[in-house]
Formats: sequence, C-alpha cells, structure tokens
Amino acid sequence: MKNTQVILSARPQGMVKSSDFDIQTNPLEEVKEGELLIEIEYISLDPAMRGWMNEGTTYIKGVELGAVMRAFSAGKILESKNRDYKVGEYVSGLLGAQTYAVSNGQGLSRCDIEKGPLSWHLGILGMPGMTAFFGLKERGQPQAGETVFVSGAAGIVGSTVGQIAKVLGCKVVGTAGSDAKCRFLLEECGFDAAINYKTEDVDQKLKEYCPEGVSVFYDNVGGPLLDTVLANLARGARVVICGAISQYNQASFYGPKNYMKIVSARGILTGIIVFDFIKEYPRAVDQLSEWLNAGKMKTKEQIIDGIEQFPVALQKLFTGDNFGKLLIRV
Ligand SMILES: NC(=O)c1ccc[n+]([C@@H]2O[C@H](COP(=O)([O-])OP(=O)(O)OC[C@H]3O[C@@H](n4cnc5c(N)ncnc54)[C@H](OP(=O)(O)O)[C@@H]3O)[C@@H](O)[C@H]2O)c1
Repeated sequence: MKNTQVILSARPQGMVKSSDFDIQTNPLEEVKEGELLIEIEYISLDPAMRGWMNEGTTYIKGVELGAVMRAFSAGKILESKNRDYKVGEYVSGLLGAQTYAVSNGQGLSRCDIEKGPLSWHLGILGMPGMTAFFGLKERGQPQAGETVFVSGAAGIVGSTVGQIAKVLGCKVVGTAGSDAKCRFLLEECGFDAAINYKTEDVDQKLKEYCPEGVSVFYDNVGGPLLDTVLANLARGARVVICGAISQYNQASFYGPKNYMKIVSARGILTGIIVFDFIKEYPRAVDQLSEWLNAGKMKTKEQIIDGIEQFPVALQKLFTGDNFGKLLIRV
C-alpha cells in the first residue's frame, strides 16, 4: 500500500505558497504492536498551520522541513494492534496531511458519527468548535443581555462563537469580508448585525449597532481591527484573543495602540489555547451536537476533493476565499 503525503519543503516568507510543499507517494509504514492504521477521509485546513510552518516553538514546535505537514485529520481504523481501538471505529487527531496514518493511539479522539457526520468532527464538533465553546464560555464569560462582538465571524470559530452567544441570550455583532458572508451571519446564524470590514467603516457601524459598548470581544483577526473594538468597550469588558489571522503572513505583528482602553473599561484581556481544555472536550461535543440537532445552531463547510489540492486550499484561509469550515476530502 502507498501513502500520499504532503511534505513541508520550504519555510514560507510572507504568504504561504504552493512551492512550500511537495506531494509525495511513499510506501506505507508497518503497523507495530500497540499501533493502529487509519485511512484518512478528511484533512482540516486551519490558520494555525501558517505558524506551524515557521521554525522554532510557540505553544507547539514548528514542523521540520521534509516532514509530513501537521494537520488535524479524521478517518476509519483499518487495522488495529492496539487493544483500546477496534477496526471500523472513526477517530480524529493530529494525524497529518496524508492518506493513511499509523498511530499509537495517543491524542486520538473517537468520532461519534451519531452526533454528526465525520467532517463535523474536524469543524464544529472538533478543534475549532472546542475553541469557540471554551474560548467564549470560559474566557469571555458572556451573560444574557450583554453584547458580544466577534471578528472573523463567518469562519468556523467565529460563526460558532456567535451562535453560542445567541443561545446564551446575548446580542451578537460580527465582522466578515464579503456581503455574502454577512448575509450568512444574519440569515443563517441569527446575528443581530454584521459588518463587511472591507467596504464599511467598522468604527462607525460598531457605534451604530452597539451604542452600549462591547462587553465581550472575541478576536480572531488582530491588527487595526482589534484597536477599533478596544476603543468601543463597555465597562468590565472581556477581550478574548483567540487568533490574529490578519498578521500570520506578516514579518512583524501589529501591536494594539489602544490597549489603555482596557484600563478605562476596567476590562480583562485574555488568551485561549484550545488544547488546555482537552479533558473537557466531550461535554462540549455533547452540548454542541444537542444544539445542532435541535436546530439552534448551524454549520457551513467547504469541502475540496483531492489531497493534491492541499497547498492551494490552505491559501484560501488567508485570502478569505474559503466560506465555511475548509476541508480536503481525501
Ligand atoms: N487559540 C486557539 O486555540 C485557536 C484554535 C483554533 C483557531 N484559532 C484562531 O481562530 C481564528 C479563526 O480560525 P478559523 O479556523 O475559524 O478560520 P476561518 O475563519 O474559517 O478562516 C479564516 C478567515 O479569516 C479571514 N481573514 C483572512 N485574512 C484576514 C485579514 N487580513 N483580515 C481579516 N480577516 C481575515 C477570512 O475571512 P473574511 O472573508 O471574513 O476576511 C478567512 O475566511 C484564527 O485566527 C485562528 O488562528 C485559535
């Protein structure tokens, strides 16, 4: 059996390029005692991959040049020499951008496909959904009646954050990069208002939609947009820094100029790394699947066929050409 693998071949300078990857077909490694073989069905494209392509360590070590690109993937167990896992079970985890993975079972999650299709276990029921759930609830601590503002709102994290906040009784406003994405937020996700940050004046619209100020700001974008929202905080606001996608391809990060607004708002500026909540994932999966199955939440996916599309697909995250959770179907 052969394994098609996406190999990191160069460290990107600026925007990620197709030439940063090689697609190789290699012999499949042998499954040893304690290991299992997984046939991968979906590979997730995540903004964090841009940081993983850099040298050095942040919250996780960068991928080595010549190694299989790190990726969350999901698939079916074809062979098991590990007594904790049975052939035919569905699992997900950091299994890499490849068609087959051999794992010792550590760090894998079982995917209960009665709770949602396998692809959802890389999206709303997977790492991005967990980020939204714990980032908003544990760090943002939204209270019913408060105003929650979400940047990158049409993405899988942002759209999940906004919908959870609606279920919790908040007013929700978000930014996205196209009119179609803003319509999706209003018509499908139940947002109270949506701002196209590419064509509208965010500060002016924010003041119009949130005259009471923002009590929870869930930031996926960073850069000047973060400054705009910092200038419009309500007293006691919580600012959750989840990501800064506007900065990932920049040589140096834009630092917030308006951070003193945290002082005048008596606010809290906090960060979230989803992996810190790993032991609590099952309760979030149960809650999100209950809300999805009850029609209280929706999720949108964009699925691209063929592992060889991986390099082109990854770029879409940074140009905004993705609409919904971006996945490769292997
Ligand atoms: N801290 C954690 O543990 C954790 C875990 C998962 C994800 N994250 C972070 O969560 C954020 C969202 O991730 P996701 O998986 O939900 O991705 P996503 O939002 O589904 O896709 C990325 C989106 O970012 C927007 N974007 C790209 N460049 C931008 C720019 N220069 N300015 C403003 N928006 C830009 C684009 O939408 P538009 O069309 O709206 O521009 C694009 O569709 C990322 O920052 C990611 O790093 C953090």
